[in-house]
Amino acid sequence: MTDQTHRTAKLSVGEKTLDLPMYSGTLGPDVIDIRRLYADGDVFTFDPGYTSTGSCESAITFIDGDKGELLYRGYPIEQLAEKSFFIEVCYLLLYGELPTAAQLEDFENRVTNHTMLHDQMSYFFRGFRRDAHPMAIVCGVVGAMSAFYHDSTDIRDAWQREVASIRLIAKMPTIVAWAYKYSIGQPFVYPKNSLDYASNFLNMCFSVPAAEYTVDPILSRAMDRIFTLHADHEQNASTSTVRLASSSGANPFACIAAGVACLWGPAHGGANQACLEMLREIGTVDRIPEFIARAKDKNDPFKLMGFGHRVYKNFDPRAKVMKQSADEVLGLLGIENNPTLQVAKELEKIALEDEYFIEKKLYPNVDFYSGIILDAIGFPTSMFTPIFALARTVGWITQWKEMISDPQLKIGRPRQLYTGPTARDYVDVEKRG
Ligand code: SDX
Repeated sequence: MTDQTHRTAKLSVGEKTLDLPMYSGTLGPDVIDIRRLYADGDVFTFDPGYTSTGSCESAITFIDGDKGELLYRGYPIEQLAEKSFFIEVCYLLLYGELPTAAQLEDFENRVTNHTMLHDQMSYFFRGFRRDAHPMAIVCGVVGAMSAFYHDSTDIRDAWQREVASIRLIAKMPTIVAWAYKYSIGQPFVYPKNSLDYASNFLNMCFSVPAAEYTVDPILSRAMDRIFTLHADHEQNASTSTVRLASSSGANPFACIAAGVACLWGPAHGGANQACLEMLREIGTVDRIPEFIARAKDKNDPFKLMGFGHRVYKNFDPRAKVMKQSADEVLGLLGIENNPTLQVAKELEKIALEDEYFIEKKLYPNVDFYSGIILDAIGFPTSMFTPIFALARTVGWITQWKEMISDPQLKIGRPRQLYTGPTARDYVDVEKRG
């Protein structure tokens, strides 16, 4: 905790006036420490959805929602997306600093040499129906890692935490690629140590034993950038899920599986699949007003997928980079006239001029353009969220390591505002009305 300047916030609760300590971080709003509130004031705070609650102290990622700023260990996402690459970003997130050339080579070698799965795990995939959503397979197989890698499940052992981290970052591309291959009935393709992280993933997804396959460098660069843009995002729903699961001392594989499950929701990581499906349903620019009207209609549960964000109230910097990347990739592939991209651009333009979206500060988020690139690379929409999970694994792991190594770690156990029945006696069935 930085800046213990002993400032306090005064809170009057009935006859009591409580002095609650306040702290400042290096960036962002100050916090009010309410840990003594129940003991001293006999009241809880109430913040469903955690719109005003800081759950932890963290030094990993910072978001300024008004400025549209996203920093990984202090480095702006725009610079990392342009100048860095995912394995280097993984090192930065995990260890807090950009690596030297020697550190990067060692780290990349450690990841590369952990990309294979225990071969017995291939039977897990075969237990699923072929039409299972790949997220169901990824969630199951990641959790099952705790049944195979017992030598890296003791969270009290720093070395085991390190090994588990490398294994998860290294094996997620293999798991996600094999989930895809299983869903399309093609044989699993093993990792190749000669390929970089993104190229290895694309090769495992798109190569087949019957033909030669060379990864298109345009696509691997685009894939790598998508991984970087999705790597971490402070205390979002799935990261908070990983932290809460970790607080009980559960093993890292189980905690990451919990994060995968949470990410799947369409309000969170599932939005990239839902967004492309929405753009395809809109189909042509002339149908956009119909969908804008539905998004504004209080009686219609429809929301513009890929729009809005709890934190970003100006623009999502990742969406800006993703939009540039979509233009670049589709242009290089000669499909810049992709109708879905045209609909997305026109939808963004119309929505951003509409009073409803302006007043509610709804802008495209990371999921709005990502699906267009993933579609151009060749993925079905069902693979969009598993790819998000692949990229976010380094963020989940980094947040997990930060939490587990905190000597003041406590199990997360929120309270509630109870509005149910008061105590009452049991009534025998013969006497019930
Ligand atoms: C991710 O937290 C993270 O950091 C997440 C993420 C990450 O990297 O981990 O950034 C990844 O999850 C991005 C978000 C992907 N989800 C979507 O694109 C789904 C569509 N968006 C919405 O479901 C919504 O915007 C959320 C869930 C993203 C944010 O919801 P909030 O912060 O709880 O805001 P809200 O639902 O209270 O919305 C405020 C108002 C509401 O209207 P009122 O009740 O005030 O009248 O805006 C409306 C909402 O109805 N609104 C929308 C809308 N999003 C919000 N109306 C139409 N279309 C939308 N997309």
